[in-house]
Amino acid sequence: MRPRRLLLFTGAAATLAQSLQDVLTAQSAVLSTLNAWLASQSLVFQILTNVQGVTLLAPSNNALSQLYSTPLATQLASDPNLLTAFLSYHVLDGVYMMSDFTNAPVASMPTFLNMAGYSNVSGGQVVESRAQNGAVTFLTGNNAQSNVQTYDFNFVGGTLHIIDTVLTIPGSLTDTLIAGGLTAAVGALRRAGVETPLNTASDVTVFVPSNDAFNAIGSLVNGMTLEQLTAVLNYHVVQGKVLYSQLIAAGTQLTAEGASLNFRIQNGGLFVNSARVVASDILVGNGVVHVVDGVLNPANTTATPNPSAATQEPAFNGASSATGGVPFTSAVISTTTVASPAGPTATPTASAGPGSPAPVAVDAASGRKAAVGAAMLLCGAVVLANW
Ligand SMILES: *[C@@H]1O[C@H](CO)[C@@H](O)[C@H](O)[C@H]1NC(C)=O
Ligand SMILES: *[C@@H]1O[C@H](CO)[C@@H](O)[C@H](O)[C@H]1NC(C)=O
Repeated sequence: MRPRRLLLFTGAAATLAQSLQDVLTAQSAVLSTLNAWLASQSLVFQILTNVQGVTLLAPSNNALSQLYSTPLATQLASDPNLLTAFLSYHVLDGVYMMSDFTNAPVASMPTFLNMAGYSNVSGGQVVESRAQNGAVTFLTGNNAQSNVQTYDFNFVGGTLHIIDTVLTIPGSLTDTLIAGGLTAAVGALRRAGVETPLNTASDVTVFVPSNDAFNAIGSLVNGMTLEQLTAVLNYHVVQGKVLYSQLIAAGTQLTAEGASLNFRIQNGGLFVNSARVVASDILVGNGVVHVVDGVLNPANTTATPNPSAATQEPAFNGASSATGGVPFTSAVISTTTVASPAGPTATPTASAGPGSPAPVAVDAASGRKAAVGAAMLLCGAVVLANW
């Protein structure tokens, strides 16, 4: 990422810089819908041009027409807070050129989505980028993928890349786990009474065992006391740190249970104690989830993996598979519906028409982000009226 001050050129360089409008106009074959949203609200430009150092991930015309046929379009039209959240999630806090992504195969970067009810991650909800063979994909809620089509359209406030699919705001932990088929973990959290505290905590990293992992120790888990089960579950949570995979190095991290986890990077895989991380960087409203292929045991912190084996021995001595189906899943309805935004539903507010005060959930810690949110909200309200 380039330091923001590089954009604050004075003199000759500044006169050469294009405005956002220039870029949108030049790319009208792909960005005319977005352009129409923005062009109908000159205030948006005033605010956007006052913000230096952003990257706009601009959904293409096709991306926005795909959105139009989903239930989200209806929700966006009727919920100004959701619209603000949605649009501010498309603005990265920092100038990231294509080369920044391709030089870092996996990266997470903060966005302007920082509203209570939609993000409980310090510094703003992130998007993850993956670069492979020169192509860049953004991963957002429920592992939705948005591919960069064309890139590095610089304007005075930063740069713009065109994406083929809108970004998905990360949903609550529970909704995301259910959508991902991780129903045993949800059932276990419910049984132990820790589902709500974990969903409402801020800045969490959760290592979530797969259903197979719970099944492999089924003979033990069903007989655990609530206290034992809670200890096991808390051993899967690092609180107060959002550890995206690129931030995890070999070493230890303290868990909410009190004992530490041991991380190893072996044979190209990431292991937590003896469990392998089989899916990483699933974004949730209040942090990040990594899926592991074994249940972690706080009474077995020295368990070590066999990195060349496809599956690991359970970290619970004497455990065997459940006989009556995957533990904890009976009360959890599996669903493939898209996760709703994290946290309790935002307080309904009067709908924002052009000229009415924008009901923005102001983030006191960041007037800069709030200002962009307001701008986005106004522009969005106009656009949705035009749909
Ligand atoms: C965000 O985290 C704080 C602190 O843990 C908590 O009080 C609040 O309820 C959380 N908000 C949401 C929407 O989950
Ligand atoms: C610890 O985990 C290993 C597998 O990594 C297992 O063989 C051993 O039985 C476990 N010990 C206890 C006390 O559960």
